[in-house]
Parts: sequence; structure tokens; C-alpha cells
Amino acid sequence: MAGEVLMRVENLSLHAGGRELQRGLSFDVLAGEVLAICGASGCGKSTLLRHLIGLQAPRAGSVTWVAGGAQRDVYGDDPPRREIGVAFQAGALWSSMTVGENVMLPLELHTGLDEPQREQQARFKLALAGLPDPATFDAEPASLSGGMRKRAAIARALVLDPPLLCLDEPSAGLDPLTSARLDDLIQRLKDDVGTAIVLVTHELDSLFAVADRVLFLDVQARTATALGPPAELRDHGPAAVREFLTRGRAAPAHAPHDENEEAA
Ligand SMILES: Nc1ncnc2c1ncn2[C@@H]1O[C@H](COP(=O)(O)OP(=O)(O)OP(=O)(O)O)[C@@H](O)[C@H]1O
Ligand SMILES: [Mg+2]
Repeated sequence: MAGEVLMRVENLSLHAGGRELQRGLSFDVLAGEVLAICGASGCGKSTLLRHLIGLQAPRAGSVTWVAGGAQRDVYGDDPPRREIGVAFQAGALWSSMTVGENVMLPLELHTGLDEPQREQQARFKLALAGLPDPATFDAEPASLSGGMRKRAAIARALVLDPPLLCLDEPSAGLDPLTSARLDDLIQRLKDDVGTAIVLVTHELDSLFAVADRVLFLDVQARTATALGPPAELRDHGPAAVREFLTRGRAAPAHAPHDENEEAA
């Protein structure tokens, strides 16, 4: 149900390499929302995602899956593995498997579907992620372009129809058209499937096009300094956040696909 709390993050600290990156992070992820995570390079965005999906346990604070009245600690005995899909920053696929085998793997691990059903579902998700060519299914990941690998990783993240999808910079390094198509995919997942998406992104076009709320992690303050709708933060947020959300823009822009944005 839209607006329901899926995940609750309370007083979370992020550490990496013996250093505290962030502290006191508290926010909810709501069903059906796109929550963008922003901040300067190195502020801890990817580290935060690793904490949200249970890959890295926090030194302080908690991440709890609370959808449907459950209280499941992400690091506990019954973590919400099936409920959270993830595509990492590097779009990591297993190089020893074909693209199709990569996408089918979660179905093999978590469902009782037989082989033809798994293949059908994986092909459907590849098409949904913008890889409709049947040949892609049998391709080696190494033979795909960077953008195609990212899309395949998103297909794999989607294959169990998770209520929450975590995407780490899905459009970084992609050409503007492919990037805009990814925004369309995110929008469709949100609107048609009701998937909530935690999206790490530097791309302002993408952020203004798809994000319902932005969580801003300040690299100096080492904590979140803003959480709210992107246009509201751009106009009324703290100075550093306003600067981040208007960089490269002559005036506060409303067009989601402004061609002049970050042309370099
Ligand atoms: N396993 C690790 N060991 C040591 N340092 C790490 C480790 N993982 C991350 N770091 C450091 O922690 C900091 C935050 O890393 P993280 O990848 O979370 O940043 P980020 O906000 O995602 O940055 P970017 O925008 O460049 O992707 C960086 O300075 C990084 O070098
Ligand atoms: Mg990162």
C-alpha cells in the first residue's frame, strides 16, 4: 500500500575502513516511493546501501523491515532477502554464467519454479529492463556493453518482484538516451508495479524526474542534513543542499530532461 512504511532506519552509523562516514541517520522508506540518496563522492552512499540490504552490519543503530506489521532486523535470523532487490554500482554479474543464468539465479535460490518458468520470468524481466533481444539471454556478461550490463543487473534485481529495489548509480556512465530510458523504467516500476526504489544518483535530471524525496548525506557534517521533495530542498533546503541541487543550472529548472545539463 502506498505510504506504508517498508523499512525503518534508526540512528544508523556508517563505517568503512575504520572511519566513521555518517552517524545518526534516521529515515523511513515508504511503499511505492522513489527515495534518492545524494551527497558528495565518498560521503557513504554505497556504504549506506550495503547496510540497508544487510551486507554490512552497523556499529550503531538499526535497519528494520517493518512492512505488513513485521519487525525483521535486516541483520537478524530472518532477514528480508527476497523483499529487497539490489543492483550495485558496478552492475556486478557472475562472469562464469550467461546473462540468463545470472537473472534466473535468485529464482533458483528462492522459488520452486521449474526451469521453463524460470526462463520465462527471466526473459520477461530482461525485456522490462530494456534488453528484449532474445540473444542477450545466452550472452556472456563480458560481451555486453556497460549500459547493457547495468540493465541486466537491474533485471536480476527485479526478478523476484521485490517491494523494494536498491539501485546504486544506475545511469552513471550511460549516454543521455539510455539514461533517460532508465528513468522511464524506474517511473514505470513505481507507477505500474508499485515498487519502492532507493536510488543513489548524482544525475540531477534523473533526480528531478523520478525522486519523490531526497536524503542528502553531508560529507563534512557526517550526517543527513536534509530529507524532502527535490524541488522543496532546491528552493528551501540548507545552502549546501541547494547548491548541490542547482549545480550547472542557470536558474532553478523544472524541465526533467534539460539538454544543457552537465553537457561536459
Ligand atoms: N571496504 C572499505 N575499506 C576501506 N575504505 C572503504 C571501504 N568501503 C568504502 N570505503 C571508503 O569509505 C568512503 C565512502 O565510500 P562509499 O563508496 O560509500 O562512498 P559513495 O558516497 O558511494 O561515493 P561515490 O559517489 O564515489 O560512489 C570512501 O572514502 C571509501 O574510500
Ligand atoms: Mg558509491
